Amino acid sequence: MGSFDSLSYLTQSEAAEVDESLMGPLGFSVDQLMELAGLSVATSIAEVYKPSEYSRVLTFCGPGNNGGDGLVAARHLHHFGYKPLVCYPKRTQKPLYAGLVTQLEALSIPFLSVEDLPSDLSNDFDVLVDAMFGFSFHGSPRPPFDDLIHRFVSIHNHNQTGQKRSVIVSIDIPSGWHVEEGDVDGTGIKPDMLVSLTAPKLCAKKFIGPHHFLGGRFVPPVIAEKYNLVLPPYPGTSMCVRIGKPPQIDISAMRENYISPEFLEEEAEADPINQFHKWFGDALAVGLKEPNAMALSTVGKDGKPSSRMVLLKGVDKNEFVWYTNYESQKARELSENPYASLLFHWDGLNRQVRVEGYVQKVSDEESEQYFHSRPRGSQIGAIVSKQSTVVPGRHVLHQKYKELEQKYADGSLIPKPKNWGGYRLTPHAFEFWQGQKSRLHDRLRYSPCEINEQKVWKVERLAP
Ligand SMILES: Cc1cc2nc3c(=O)[nH]c(=O)nc-3n(C[C@H](O)[C@H](O)[C@H](O)COP(=O)(O)O)c2cc1C
Repeated sequence: MGSFDSLSYLTQSEAAEVDESLMGPLGFSVDQLMELAGLSVATSIAEVYKPSEYSRVLTFCGPGNNGGDGLVAARHLHHFGYKPLVCYPKRTQKPLYAGLVTQLEALSIPFLSVEDLPSDLSNDFDVLVDAMFGFSFHGSPRPPFDDLIHRFVSIHNHNQTGQKRSVIVSIDIPSGWHVEEGDVDGTGIKPDMLVSLTAPKLCAKKFIGPHHFLGGRFVPPVIAEKYNLVLPPYPGTSMCVRIGKPPQIDISAMRENYISPEFLEEEAEADPINQFHKWFGDALAVGLKEPNAMALSTVGKDGKPSSRMVLLKGVDKNEFVWYTNYESQKARELSENPYASLLFHWDGLNRQVRVEGYVQKVSDEESEQYFHSRPRGSQIGAIVSKQSTVVPGRHVLHQKYKELEQKYADGSLIPKPKNWGGYRLTPHAFEFWQGQKSRLHDRLRYSPCEINEQKVWKVERLAP
């Protein structure tokens, strides 16, 4: 998320100059910029309005570049799982635009004429995308766009009666707004989301809706330097970044409807360790970040539980191994009560796994071996940190780290501190949870039992 106070805003002429530079000396074509702009709009919409709730998206495209961005966004939204429709009343006959229309037709995306529009747009559509006019527009909108703008305005006013209404997303400039002054007389479109492209235009300062995003991840440093652009970094590989303050969220209203394959008794492995490996493999295969992160809960002699994250470092001889400081809070609690619970949450797969059992220290040789396999920085860090004790400030840790870094700069062996090592948990219970629609989740519990003097795992389904 960007910093909101120091953002740069472009005037209309600066915005035009930036586009000219991009498409002149900087070698971009209009097709490329339109593709990236439309993709940014689609990804911004997908960040906020999930297709499970907001699938019906009607995009209103004007005759210029802004309309082209809308056509591209509609195509990407289709591929993201939405059901887009397009209203494109004044088609531009240039090959670029004709191509975009052909691409949408090939995806069977319906085109609605203005006459076909239902009288109450909110009844039929979850999202209305305003791609009518961009930053180069001057003057007053002409028919049919003047009337369409009125319809957008009345949808917003309608909301004040408390009924469900479509949300409005404007691309770069809310249509009808002055590029620099904004909604001059206060009677214009009041979008819920504004997706500024390349850099926000001056009018964006007047945007008061809950979701302001920036898209157009193609600004080269020469442009940023020339126009003193202060723009937030895009996270990871994202095509968009939130630049407005995030809205106040009603936590009680936050919920996901999980959609996952069923997890049936017939599919469950007889041995829960094999089941764990199977699901861990799935978590790796879909690229989840740190699937080996697990919450470890312990309870000391005072009977008060405490939890923290640790990293699983192996499932060895059917036991779950992690490493830590033997003088930390968790270590003290484990010395008082050697039972613990581990919890894995694999969000992207709608899964959690609970593992409960008895905990012992791993052998000193094993801890020694693992300690020396870690990066030297982590080895020094383990010596520096008297985990869970009070420190007067960061500087104390850094000072000590620096001293040790110098001491071992010759590459000599860094000795493992005595108070650092591993634990292994021998499981006596597992539960595999798979999120499902309407809270009817799958929960399969494994508990040990004996059949014909043979130790086996009993699998039972628990109510969600
Ligand atoms: C994702 C993640 C992984 C962590 N892994 C470990 C770990 O493997 N070992 C460890 O001692 N602390 C780890 N920590 C830090 C612990 O959560 C915790 O702050 C620390 O162990 C002190 O806990 P305690 O005071 O309850 O003993 C991790 C934290 C996070 C967020």
